[in-house]
Amino acid sequence: MIRQVLDGALKESNLSVNDLDGFLALPSLAEHHIMEAHFQATSLGLFTRKASSDAKRLGQPSLLCRTIDTGGGGPVSALLQAQSMIQHEGLNCVAVVAADSVGSMDSRTFLQRVDNIFGDESGIPSPIIPNGYDRYTQYQMQRYGLTRDQLRMVVCLQSFHASRHKESLLYQTALELQPSQQTEHMKRDTPKPFTALDSIQQAPSVAPNISLLECAYRADGAGCIILTSESFLNERLRTSLEMEQVKKKAVTILGSGESSGPLVPPAKEQIGGFPFGSDAAMTQAYRQAGSLKATNIDFFALYDCFPICLIRALEATGICSQGDGGNYIEAQYSKLMNAVDSGTEEELIQDPTFFPVNTHGGLLCYGAPWEVPAMYNIIEACQQLNENAVGRQIDDCKRALVYGNGGIFSSSAVAILGKAT
Ligand code: CAA
Repeated sequence: MIRQVLDGALKESNLSVNDLDGFLALPSLAEHHIMEAHFQATSLGLFTRKASSDAKRLGQPSLLCRTIDTGGGGPVSALLQAQSMIQHEGLNCVAVVAADSVGSMDSRTFLQRVDNIFGDESGIPSPIIPNGYDRYTQYQMQRYGLTRDQLRMVVCLQSFHASRHKESLLYQTALELQPSQQTEHMKRDTPKPFTALDSIQQAPSVAPNISLLECAYRADGAGCIILTSESFLNERLRTSLEMEQVKKKAVTILGSGESSGPLVPPAKEQIGGFPFGSDAAMTQAYRQAGSLKATNIDFFALYDCFPICLIRALEATGICSQGDGGNYIEAQYSKLMNAVDSGTEEELIQDPTFFPVNTHGGLLCYGAPWEVPAMYNIIEACQQLNENAVGRQIDDCKRALVYGNGGIFSSSAVAILGKAT
């Protein structure tokens, strides 16, 4: 998968492996290697290829490899690391790759590996990740009156978006296997996968306030991003006409923020006292992008391994105020149901007040290959900015915010992206 996505990204950028002077990779749960980036670069033959003339001229090592591990925040952290390597270490062209195949793992092995990360001493029952997020869910329900159905509505909204993306896992599996998951409304014309509220209510329970359909949807998958310096692109533009098209599609980082928290969630009674990493990371990113706020962002790609994660993220972005995430979701869900009842779903996506979040379907419905999903967030943001999100395009999308979250709210990484030209 890594070779496939690297080749695809290089081709789309009109570049070759010989142009790379940086290579960043994220660890995989299914096939763990120490020094993942070095392992992958060796397997890909990157150390035996020709170094670029720039690298030779500058006397740089032909390839600088780093493995980044901030869990689900990894793709965004790696994007920011690539930016720093370009700005401060003189690199020109860095590839970021991530791949995993947790969808093909048997559930027992998956759960054992995941539970081992946190350990028995966490005091959280297995499956530790859903139960860990449940602790935060309970806090939000008690503190702010978030309701059980509002949590389920997150999945309905995400599934609506995923139903418009043919590569989403929900689209692919629902069309082939699960017609019962489609509502009557959605089946009317062409069948489209949509997870209705009652099917989530009936789904088996995984943790006290989380059902199977409210879990990150385990999947196999991979992604790759290529980041270059502006001077490198300009240099290439002089020698290659095709680069003109590439440059037109280029996206730039306007601001970013990162933050860390404990690996194991604090005890229930202490949660309120813990600052949320996503709040700090968003604030920093908005400030760095020139004091932007939520109203200046057209598209949000927010980590949503469980509904509580998305709800906290919505509040952290400022789309709604703290504690109001559940009500915001309910209002969006009502809008969706009204459109479904009146057969106006097609117009909904053009409505700037309708849920401009995770138009690919997020972890809950597009698919969640362990540390890869925030890569999908970045890719969907680039698609939106380049007006390539066919069937789900947000009008006049100029800025996008991407957020990755690692562990159980243990790491947060945010980037605000905009068109480069
Ligand atoms: N939507 C639709 N279907 C889903 C689904 C979803 N969100 N999640 C699972 N399913 C489907 C599966 O595809 C499977 O379908 P088939 O029977 O047709 O194959 C069926 O439901 C049963 O799923 P599992 O085989 O996974 O069921 P299980 O009982 O073996 O395990 C579970 C259940 C323990 C909840 C397991 O699915 C699980 O652990 N899920 C959560 C995954 C997770 O924790 N991911 C990481 C999130 S945290 C993060 O992303 C941060 C980080 O740093 C990495």
